[in-house]
Amino acid sequence: MLVIHDLHKNYPEGDQTVSVLKGLSFEVRSPARIGIVGTSGAGKSTLLHIIGGLDQPTSGKIMLDGEDWQALPENRRCRLRNLQIGFIFQFYHLLPELTALENAMLPALIAGLPPAEAKQRAANGLKQVGLVSRENHMPSQLSGGEQQRVAIARACVMRPKFLLADEPTGNLDETTGKEVFQVLDQAAKESGGVLLMVTHNRELAKKMDAVFELKDGKLHAV
Ligand SMILES: Nc1ncnc2c1ncn2[C@@H]1O[C@H](COP(=O)(O)OP(=O)(O)OP(=O)(O)O)[C@@H](O)[C@H]1O
Ligand SMILES: [Mg+2]
Repeated sequence: MLVIHDLHKNYPEGDQTVSVLKGLSFEVRSPARIGIVGTSGAGKSTLLHIIGGLDQPTSGKIMLDGEDWQALPENRRCRLRNLQIGFIFQFYHLLPELTALENAMLPALIAGLPPAEAKQRAANGLKQVGLVSRENHMPSQLSGGEQQRVAIARACVMRPKFLLADEPTGNLDETTGKEVFQVLDQAAKESGGVLLMVTHNRELAKKMDAVFELKDGKLHAV
């Protein structure tokens, strides 16, 4: 379960501050697939980064399965992020010097799994996203859709309860985008957790259980 209470995020801009999130509250119980839409600059990435522990809020509370994100000591927060959160970026963010398999193994190695098990899990993940034959390719040798599928395998390798996807299909053609979405949708169903997906694609948004618009610093049901 994800609970967000009275979340604020301000950024300094010159000698002023700009408020991006303005007392945003939101609650979702697993399993759920939630779409987030909103105009450019509305704060969608900011919100996802804060939920994923990649950025800090100015104030407010985030509870992930009863754990208060901000109150946790840094090492516990890192551990929780590693085990419970899978983050998928618009531009994949694979490590260029690692193969597809090594990229997909990373969270499992960070979690301290034995390398053989990490490798097994990553190989299974790549199989699920249809990339068995690409295990040893470098990211630069993969298409955009293939890189995004590796990123999904990486995000899912620890079977996290929270999958946060920031416009995962935004950089892909329509057909590849649909394929990538199906992989993500399947992963969310299998984990039985929460999928939060930012998308500009109304057709994909319709396939979610619920859609919210981020507007004026808050989420509104669409
Ligand atoms: N590190 C930062 N420092 C200052 N301002 C920032 C920072 N990050 C984001 N912003 C500002 O916060 C606002 C929200 O940005 P954000 O990236 O969350 O928007 P978004 O809804 O994801 O937009 P897009 O659809 O274009 O990805 C923007 O006005 C942006 O300029
Ligand atoms: Mg964004």
